[in-house]
Amino acid sequence: MSILTHNIRKIKKVFSDGIEVDSSSYEILSGAAKAIKGVPGLCLEMGTRRGGSAKIIINSLIENGDLGRSLLCIDPYGDIVHANEEGKFDRVDYTNRMRSDTMRNLYKFAHGKPVDLYLITLEDTEYFKRFADGYPIYNKEKQLINKYALVFFDGPHDIESVMKEIEFFQPRSPKGSLWVFDDINKYPHDEAIEPKLFELGWKLVAKKSPKASYTKI
Ligand SMILES: C[S@@+](CC[C@H](N)C(=O)[O-])C[C@H]1O[C@@H](n2cnc3c(N)ncnc32)[C@H](O)[C@@H]1O
Repeated sequence: MSILTHNIRKIKKVFSDGIEVDSSSYEILSGAAKAIKGVPGLCLEMGTRRGGSAKIIINSLIENGDLGRSLLCIDPYGDIVHANEEGKFDRVDYTNRMRSDTMRNLYKFAHGKPVDLYLITLEDTEYFKRFADGYPIYNKEKQLINKYALVFFDGPHDIESVMKEIEFFQPRSPKGSLWVFDDINKYPHDEAIEPKLFELGWKLVAKKSPKASYTKI
């Protein structure tokens, strides 16, 4: 069962397990998660909120038989000032209470599933500083993984932050990897980000506002 609630800008869909999405066109995210089969690297989501998009990534990987992937979900929560759209910095409702609800709900959902989930309470820039040499995964052996097969950009929605994220992930994304951008209607994605992606060797896979996906050729 799910309940649909609308606020000014967002459609929120709440599932009975408390996990929630806040946007639309998630088929683009699901298609991207399915397109990375065979591409080495981590899956990473920047901006997790109540875990709805992470749940979609997990379900898509499993449906596709792409088992054993590590999914890192990066989100600071803490009700800090957030780049909600270009030029608009505000506190939303991304509180530490939301963090603890999401940790409970998402780990419960992922428990026993063949996807290795890591919820990491950091903002994008702190993650980049601390894990520039890779993220350590412990599974019989220690592996320091510095490749990303899938990145979902859904944290800060302003050009400066998205550009910094692109700079970090570009050298760490192998051929065939997928990037998905959310809320492309909240900052000048088509004018400022997409041309940069083309210049860096990315090709558009799908676009349906508010999401767009690209693959590295
Ligand atoms: C639009 S919501 C994410 C929605 C979620 N991906 C979904 O589709 O259900 C944005 C999230 O980004 C987080 N956030 C804010 N600033 C961030 C930053 N600098 N780095 C990473 N995440 C950030 C917020 O705490 C919030 O949970």
